[in-house]
Amino acid sequence: MWSASVLAQVLPATRRQIPSLQDVKTGTPCQKFDLHQQGDDMSDRATDFTGSIPAFYDHGLGPVFFADFADDIARRAAASAPMRVLEIAAGTGIVTRRLRDLLPSEAHLTATDLNPPMLEVARAKFNRDEMVEFQPADATALPFPDASFDTIVCQFGVMFFPDKDKGYREAYRVLAGGGRYLFSVWDSHRHNPIGRLITEILAGLFPHDPPQFYQVPFSYHQLDPIKDSLAAAGFTDLRIAVLSLSKIVPDVATFARALVLGNPLVDQIRARGGVDPERVIEELVEALPREFGTNPTRIPLQAIVWEVTRR
Ligand SMILES: C[S@@+](CC[C@H](N)C(=O)[O-])C[C@H]1O[C@@H](n2cnc3c(N)ncnc32)[C@H](O)[C@@H]1O
Repeated sequence: MWSASVLAQVLPATRRQIPSLQDVKTGTPCQKFDLHQQGDDMSDRATDFTGSIPAFYDHGLGPVFFADFADDIARRAAASAPMRVLEIAAGTGIVTRRLRDLLPSEAHLTATDLNPPMLEVARAKFNRDEMVEFQPADATALPFPDASFDTIVCQFGVMFFPDKDKGYREAYRVLAGGGRYLFSVWDSHRHNPIGRLITEILAGLFPHDPPQFYQVPFSYHQLDPIKDSLAAAGFTDLRIAVLSLSKIVPDVATFARALVLGNPLVDQIRARGGVDPERVIEELVEALPREFGTNPTRIPLQAIVWEVTRR
C-alpha cells in the first residue's frame, strides 16, 4: 500500500506539459474495481492490431487521440536525459518518434509492441542511422535481462495487458535501480465522452451483444487499484498528472472511419455479422458533430499520466 507521504507526492510539479494540455486535478474518486473484469473483453480479441488496422490507427486516430499526449509523455521521459530507454506497447511509433527527437542522440531507444504490424508502421518513421531498435514483445513477458533500462515509457497500452500486475513486475524487473516508469491511461467516460458516444451507438446497433472493444481503453482509470499494483511490484515515488485537452477533429469522416477500422473493433463487428462496419461509421459521422459541434468538431479528452521509480 502507498503511504500518506506517497499520496502527497501527487505533485503540481508535474505541470510540465505542453501548453494545450491542462493539469486539471490531482485525483479522481476511487471506486471498487476488479482488475480482472476485462477477461471477457480480452476474449473478444481487443489486442489484435493487425491487417489494415495499423494504417487507419496511425493516420486517423493518431492526430486526434495520441499526438498531443505523446508530446507530453516524451518530454517527461526525456527530462532526465536517460541513455537506455524502452518503450512498450509502442504501436505505430507516435511516442517513439517524439522520444527520438528529444532524447540525447547517443541514447539507445528500444520500441516494442505485441503486434509486429504496428511496429512496421513505426519503423517507417525512422532513418536507419537513428538508433531505434524495434522488437516485438509482450509487455507481460519482456525479452530483456534484469536492469537493462533507465526509463520505460508506455502510452495508452497498460489497459490492454491481460495481467496488469505482471506488466508492472516486468517493467520493474528490466529497470535499473533508480529507473523510471512513465505510462498513461485514459480517464473515465465522464471525461472522455467520445467513449460513451461510441458505446451508445454500438449498443443501439447490437442490442444483444455489443462489441466490447471500447470498454478496454476507457475502463482502467481508478487510482487506488493502480497505486496498489505499482506498490506491490515494488515501485515508489509516485507522481500523477491528469491532463485534459479539447481537441479539434480536423476531418470528421477520416476520424469516424478510423474509430471503427483503426482498432480491433472492426473485427468484433465482423465476427458478430449483420451490421456492416460502414453503417457504424455512418452513425459516427452523423453523431460526432451533433455531440461535439460543427466547424470545428471539438472533443474533450482526459488522460492520467503515472510516473514511478524503481527502488
Ligand atoms: C492504443 S494502442 C497505443 C499505441 C501507442 N503507445 C500510441 O500511443 O499510439 C495500444 C497498443 O498496445 C499494444 N498491446 C496490446 N497488448 C499488448 C501486450 N500484452 N504487450 C505489448 N503491447 C500490447 C497493441 O498492439 C497496441 O499497439
